[in-house]
Amino acid sequence: MRIAALALIPLLVHGATRAPVPADRAMVVAAERQAAEIGRRVLQSGGNAVDAAVAVGMTMAVTYPLAGNIGGGGFMLIRFADGRSTFIDFREMAPGAATRDMYLDADGEATDESVIGYRAAGVPGTVRGLAMALEKYGTKRWAELIRPARRLAERGITVTPLTVATLSDNHRLERFAESKRIFLNGGDYFRRGDLLRQRDLARTFRRMEKNGPDEFYTGETARLIARDMAANNGLITLEDLNAYEPKERRPLEGDYRGYQVLSAPPPSSGGAGVVQMLRMLEDSDYFQAGAGSAAAIHHVAEVQRRFFADRAAYFGDTDFIEMPLDELVSAAYARKRASTIDPEKATPSSEVSAGLGDGKMDGETTHYSVVDAMGNAVSVTYTLNGLYGSGVTAAGTGILLNNEMDDFTAKPGAPNMFGLLQSENNAIEPRKRPLSAMTPTILVKDGKVAYVLGSPGGPTIINTVFETILNLVDFNMDLQQAVDFPRFHHQWMPDELRMESYGFSPDTVRLLEERGHTIRRVNRQGRVMAIEVNEDGLLGAADARSEGLAAGY
Ligand code: DON
Repeated sequence: MRIAALALIPLLVHGATRAPVPADRAMVVAAERQAAEIGRRVLQSGGNAVDAAVAVGMTMAVTYPLAGNIGGGGFMLIRFADGRSTFIDFREMAPGAATRDMYLDADGEATDESVIGYRAAGVPGTVRGLAMALEKYGTKRWAELIRPARRLAERGITVTPLTVATLSDNHRLERFAESKRIFLNGGDYFRRGDLLRQRDLARTFRRMEKNGPDEFYTGETARLIARDMAANNGLITLEDLNAYEPKERRPLEGDYRGYQVLSAPPPSSGGAGVVQMLRMLEDSDYFQAGAGSAAAIHHVAEVQRRFFADRAAYFGDTDFIEMPLDELVSAAYARKRASTIDPEKATPSSEVSAGLGDGKMDGETTHYSVVDAMGNAVSVTYTLNGLYGSGVTAAGTGILLNNEMDDFTAKPGAPNMFGLLQSENNAIEPRKRPLSAMTPTILVKDGKVAYVLGSPGGPTIINTVFETILNLVDFNMDLQQAVDFPRFHHQWMPDELRMESYGFSPDTVRLLEERGHTIRRVNRQGRVMAIEVNEDGLLGAADARSEGLAAGY
């Protein structure tokens, strides 16, 4: 009796956050509960992690319309139980008619067309990306995996507080009749507990069930999208849809204090960012100052500032441009970069340039993590870019379209919707992929998956994943603590350190100001969905900042 009570202590005495959710065999962690449940069911019925990832992705297109999607794109990182790994890039591509200056007005100023409306959308990659993963690495049938999503679209979903909040002041959706009809309840807005039915989307899913994934790119769905585009001065044509191709790439690899790090290669800057920043910390004992201390935050923020200066200069779609990727993630370069950090004083961003020479936050993305009973792990981040994307629902399809074109450099030297400065390397070209920050990541220890994680948050994604890794590896937090711990973000320009509003003491903030940081308090940074695999089984942690669920068995 006494022993049993003692055994519970680690779970019950848990400091400031709840305990992570334990499971014996398999786990899905996602930002929306029904999707996580559906993923768990796929795993319980013998599906592998890729099968579950397809079902979760499709379900969230219905149950989490702010970011879940079939009208957007993303990345899937897979680490197989036998040690192999791969990466499926289903990032949107620029339409064939896209041009470098398409978002500049007559005076050469950037317009809002990269953010709102038909011209903001890149050619969606989600359907072909998930289908490629399933065909190559899954075990179940496409139709079976997408059916639950169709049923939820037909029957309706009960809108959650987060959905209500994000729909009720959404001015982008307001401007497009189809979006207003479906997502704003015809202008009456949804209240908590209301039912949101998506009948057009259900019909789209039914056609995809019957005709397979190509329905989206060459079938009736493709024709409906192309027709609506043509009628509204949009660029995406039937030919663009036909030509969309997901790409299988080699994951970006690095290591940190005994862990192998697998993450996203270009066209994401995320994996390179996490690996370069970890390498800048490798020789440092910054963590001795303690998690959340001004000294540790200062050191990590200085690392972030340096990476983001490089990001602004070099990164783009490597199918189109050359960039010094190997050098940027090398230990020698990181050491050189880190040697310029002053432990007592912030280096003004104006004095930090890209290390190799020349060279308004209302987004929403979502991440989910899956580990199956065989030990395969899948890490997926996918997005419409902005909350509910471009605001456009393609007429007759129920599909919300992304505004991923804003991730390109609309005008060199002018910030995009995330305040990011970007280079020529990320200029718009037909069929090119816009630079991303999405960072689906897997950490491997002694040849076995140890952690699966990722987050939304535009450029903050990279720092969110980075800081979560530091919480786990350097500060020895448990999974839920590491995920919930307060976060901060430096992206070089603007030269400010963003810190979450709650959780950091005013004393800490003052000490950082004394070191020369300009502090901006923000409401929230990221929503991490993470899994840990250890000798006792699995642990899942859905971020306290989310309505998510860790569903294991
Ligand atoms: O790919 C990217 O980096 C962005 N389109 C992600 C946008 C995002 O995370 C918005 N989220 N909160």
